[in-house]
Amino acid sequence: MGQLQDRVALITGGESGIGLATARLFVREGARVHLVGLRQDALDAAVAELGAGAALGTRADVTDEAAVRDAVEAGYRHFGRLDVLVSNAGTSGASAPIPDYPADVFAHTLAVHVGGAFHVLKHGLPRLPDGGCAVIMSSVTGLKGFPGSSGYVAAKHGQVGLMRAAAAEVAARRIRVNTLHPGPTSTPFQDEIEMAATGLDQAEAAQAFDRMIPLGRHTTPEEIAQAVLYLASDAGAMITSTTFVVDGGLSG
Ligand SMILES: NC(=O)c1ccc[n+]([C@@H]2O[C@H](COP(=O)([O-])OP(=O)(O)OC[C@H]3O[C@@H](n4cnc5c(N)ncnc54)[C@H](O)[C@@H]3O)[C@@H](O)[C@H]2O)c1
Repeated sequence: MGQLQDRVALITGGESGIGLATARLFVREGARVHLVGLRQDALDAAVAELGAGAALGTRADVTDEAAVRDAVEAGYRHFGRLDVLVSNAGTSGASAPIPDYPADVFAHTLAVHVGGAFHVLKHGLPRLPDGGCAVIMSSVTGLKGFPGSSGYVAAKHGQVGLMRAAAAEVAARRIRVNTLHPGPTSTPFQDEIEMAATGLDQAEAAQAFDRMIPLGRHTTPEEIAQAVLYLASDAGAMITSTTFVVDGGLSG
């Protein structure tokens, strides 16, 4: 028996990086997964890898409420149940000090992270059984400020407020809602952030970030997936309304 045997999880941004690593681990633990994301080719490749019996892919922009509502319902009809929500879709926003930060990029970054998580909760929570759970992928930047990334930092902090409100609302149904806060994790998404922040090439930028992390290296997507599994499985049955950090000590 896997730790998520026969459960169904919806994972936004499930077609790459941390989301795909989570989908792979969830399937190994007996779950079926509904990947909701922007990139049709990557969704198709992920479903082909995971197997059509275990995975479904739906193209939807999480900033579009109707698209998220329709995706949730399509997944529910396909699998017949929904037990776990993983709101993971993300974008890095701009890299600029506040006076130079484009207002439209700031608004879009909040729309993806906070609005997207809100849409997933709004349409997903009513479908969860008592005892279900939701994990929102925040960041170390949801706990601590960093220069030049006000949109991303504000969005990742905003997800914590949304999580606490949701956790308080659904606790009576024993539904748990938590944020997960990765530190630098090796994905192309993070490579772009590090190169923009340092002006160095990828390998040198990664080394510069490694030197800032007390445990001396980036986290892997698979290590973040293990933390999502812990929060989503029965091992996390008494964990709700918490900010769960996996960052090699960066925010300490
Ligand atoms: N990689 C890191 O170091 C790191 C650290 C902390 C937090 N995070 C967070 O983890 C999450 C996953 O990031 P990742 O590193 O795996 O990067 P990634 O780029 O591989 O994954 C992001 C996914 O979100 C999807 N997406 C983006 N905008 C979307 C939208 N509007 N609607 C639907 N899907 C959308 C993309 O298609 C992609 O699949 C993000 O929320 C990110 O902020 C990443």
